[in-house]
Amino acid sequence: MEKGSAMVRQTANVKGQQAVRQQEIKEAVRESMKNVKHKIMVMSGKGGVGKTTVAVNLAFALSMQNLEVGLMDADIHGPDVPKMLGIENRQPEIIEGKVNPVFATQHLRAISIAFFLAERDSAIVWRGPLKMHAIRQFLSDVNWGKLDYLIIDLPPGTGDEPLSVAQLIENVDGAVIVTTPQEISLLDVRKAVRFAQVLDISVIGIIENMSSMVCPYCGKEIPIFKKGGGKRAAREMGVPFLGSVPFDPHVVEDADRGKPFILHRESKVSKAFERIVDRIRKSVEDNACKQNSSQ
Ligand SMILES: Nc1ncnc2c1ncn2[C@@H]1O[C@H](COP(=O)(O)OP(=O)(O)O)[C@@H](O)[C@H]1O
Ligand SMILES: [Mg+2]
Repeated sequence: MEKGSAMVRQTANVKGQQAVRQQEIKEAVRESMKNVKHKIMVMSGKGGVGKTTVAVNLAFALSMQNLEVGLMDADIHGPDVPKMLGIENRQPEIIEGKVNPVFATQHLRAISIAFFLAERDSAIVWRGPLKMHAIRQFLSDVNWGKLDYLIIDLPPGTGDEPLSVAQLIENVDGAVIVTTPQEISLLDVRKAVRFAQVLDISVIGIIENMSSMVCPYCGKEIPIFKKGGGKRAAREMGVPFLGSVPFDPHVVEDADRGKPFILHRESKVSKAFERIVDRIRKSVEDNACKQNSSQ
């Protein structure tokens, strides 16, 4: 009996300590995020649809509009952000226990687990709690400074991992969902929309990536997969459709060279993407305006 009640007391104690710790983490995250105006999550129902490509080019495009932008690579298993930005050999400074993000350009800074790995190409085996710890530190222990936008490249899918990350980040302006036009991917997009809705995160809209192929010889668009599925899914789910980005082999080359494709301003992909960036900005800023005026 004595033993039993001691155990109950002990459990209550541990639970109490955990609650205090949770509270401390939340406050640290809040403190570090207090000068971040807008936060956008980039999500997808599965990997390989162009989520990181969208996150990197969205962040880069915003930073070219003279905004201060941060890019957080929350994909622990596939941390591709540094490579796509051509900064994979750089190392963040750590000063008094706080990490300075790596500046890709004057207006764009990024953080990724890839910066901290000794062997960049080795498979990473992380236990769940360690992964969450890393993400938590990206939010609370990074000197993000004053940002107009923080773009978060979430882990793919709608499982436990993206869920815990999404729960940790408070006051998100919304989620951008990336899909490709194949039927299987569209099923995933429906899951991703529901996932955002369950988390009470508003869906800024859906992007259909690799929707048609740009012919390298004549520049015409060839619909290799059925085009328009993203738009249909958006209509069906009652969320905005942000636009289609064609498949262009140059995008792969650019990603491998660490150059955002948006830098080729005259290309079809770049033009399509710029329109999408404008829609995202308008949606986020109009929404924030509405919320401020209703307060
Ligand atoms: N519009 C596009 N045209 C051509 N290739 C693309 C396009 N978008 C993405 N890719 C390529 O597809 C691959 C997967 O993209 P990535 O952004 O890494 O996907 P995810 O983050 O969803 O796993 C990369 O090699 C990338 O360069
Ligand atoms: Mg990725």
